[in-house]
Amino acid sequence: MIEVKNIEDTNLAENPVIAQMGKYNHEQLLFCNDNETGLRAIIAVHNTTLGPALGGTRMWNYKNEIEALNDVLRLSRGMTYKNSISGLNLGGGKAVIIGDARAMKSEALFRRFGKFVNSLAGKYITAEDVGVNPLDMTCVSMETDHVVGLPGKSGDPSPVTAHGTYVGMKACAKEQFGSDSLSGKKVAVQGVGHVGEYLVEALSKEGAEVYITDIHEPTLKRVADKYGAKVVGLDEIYEIDMDIYAPCALGATINDTTLSKLKCSIIAGAANNQLQQE
Ligand SMILES: NC(=O)c1ccc[n+]([C@@H]2O[C@H](COP(=O)([O-])OP(=O)(O)OC[C@H]3O[C@@H](n4cnc5c(N)ncnc54)[C@H](O)[C@@H]3O)[C@@H](O)[C@H]2O)c1
Repeated sequence: MIEVKNIEDTNLAENPVIAQMGKYNHEQLLFCNDNETGLRAIIAVHNTTLGPALGGTRMWNYKNEIEALNDVLRLSRGMTYKNSISGLNLGGGKAVIIGDARAMKSEALFRRFGKFVNSLAGKYITAEDVGVNPLDMTCVSMETDHVVGLPGKSGDPSPVTAHGTYVGMKACAKEQFGSDSLSGKKVAVQGVGHVGEYLVEALSKEGAEVYITDIHEPTLKRVADKYGAKVVGLDEIYEIDMDIYAPCALGATINDTTLSKLKCSIIAGAANNQLQQE
């Protein structure tokens, strides 16, 4: 956490937040706080050249606010690239809610967050990301129209994301192995949450040898039992003998430490910002 004793003590030119915004060329940041619901969030609008900034909301137990800030800055910039490369008339944005998604969620918290989204008057459109599900977005939608991924409308984006990851993986396999078949290929899926589980399902159906890991033991066990996937340790996943590494948890898992360990010839996963250094 940045310690600022008096606001007068800070020199705007040296403010790390403003400097960070300049580094990635962000348009706007909205810091959100509500003591009553416990909401602490940051909404980042990276670029609206092509249209309103679209990007999901992540709820995560960040170690500190700087970690949350860095994440939302990197994620929102990634959304500018993803939306633009997909030919959409949408800019890039993202939001993070600081807190434990398994303990802190409430209708009131997401409604309060919805009010903050609404205050941006359509400049930012939100959706699900890590730690957030369609039900949470329903609460957000009680306070704003600028939300997608709602049940009965576009719905949970995870199955579609997993399918995109799966067909992307097959395209890589065709290039690398001469066939797009994943049957018998060793695939290591890191994170078996919303997207990861659908991916494991598709890979298992095709006859791939699937290895999985997750920090949440009950989820890991349930997915392993359901699809017959083999469980590996959180760090072990980088070192196992595999053809394809599929990062489907958080970003920055491809870095100076892991790169030398990875024996795969394909990396294809759903996680945003897979490279630690851009
Ligand atoms: N949900 C979508 O439609 C969508 C779309 C585009 C990109 N993504 C990206 O895909 C990734 C997964 O999203 P999701 O919606 O499945 O999230 P999720 O929260 O449902 O699942 C993430 C899983 O990763 C696990 N995890 C977290 N840290 C881990 C670690 N260090 N090692 C192993 N497991 C870990 C969590 O316990 C959880 O089970 C995220 O990076 C997200 O930004 C998701």
